[in-house]
Amino acid sequence: MILISGSGSNMAAIVETARTQRWQARFGARIAAVVSNKAAAPGLAWAKEQGIATAALDHKGYDSREAFDAALKAEIDRHAPALVVLAGFMRILTPGFVQHYEGRLINIHPSLLPAFPGLKTHQRAIEMGCRFAGATVHRVTSELDHGEILEQAVVPVLPDDTAESLGARVLAQEHVIYPRAVERLLAVA
Ligand code: GAR
Repeated sequence: MILISGSGSNMAAIVETARTQRWQARFGARIAAVVSNKAAAPGLAWAKEQGIATAALDHKGYDSREAFDAALKAEIDRHAPALVVLAGFMRILTPGFVQHYEGRLINIHPSLLPAFPGLKTHQRAIEMGCRFAGATVHRVTSELDHGEILEQAVVPVLPDDTAESLGARVLAQEHVIYPRAVERLLAVA
């Protein structure tokens, strides 16, 4: 089960790796569904084209975080997934939701955690004068962008980098480490 909010390039990398690395045959694993909190997310249309079950749950239609998370939980649990993979899902989840999926909820974050939790990670890394940046796949806990680190990739920060150029370098590595992290978890499940 993959949760997205936007372009879904990490989701696509995972879907493609599932195919090329034959996750179904090797681990009995398939992508149960892709769920987005934005109906217009380009990644959702892509997933649908791939024949994957999709659902859109607009968080604006709910009175509270708790109400949205309850609806999201119901949608996810219909599929009884072994893993819930946050791939650019830009919503803070309630502690109750996180607890419900403890041990099977993972996220990718565009920094070398524990540095730069939160937003605008590339801009902040450049402003701090970091020589290296990167991405982290981690288990999700109720503390934002914390939790056990499963994979990391490091890239250099170049002297003329902008947030965009650094972000593109990091994103290319995200597409390598996220499928790898998921595959490792499937292999030990
Ligand atoms: C990725 O860079 C991911 O690390 C980041 O959003 C982007 C989603 O891109 N996630 C976060 O910032 C989570 N706090 P994608 O939709 O193309 O995978």
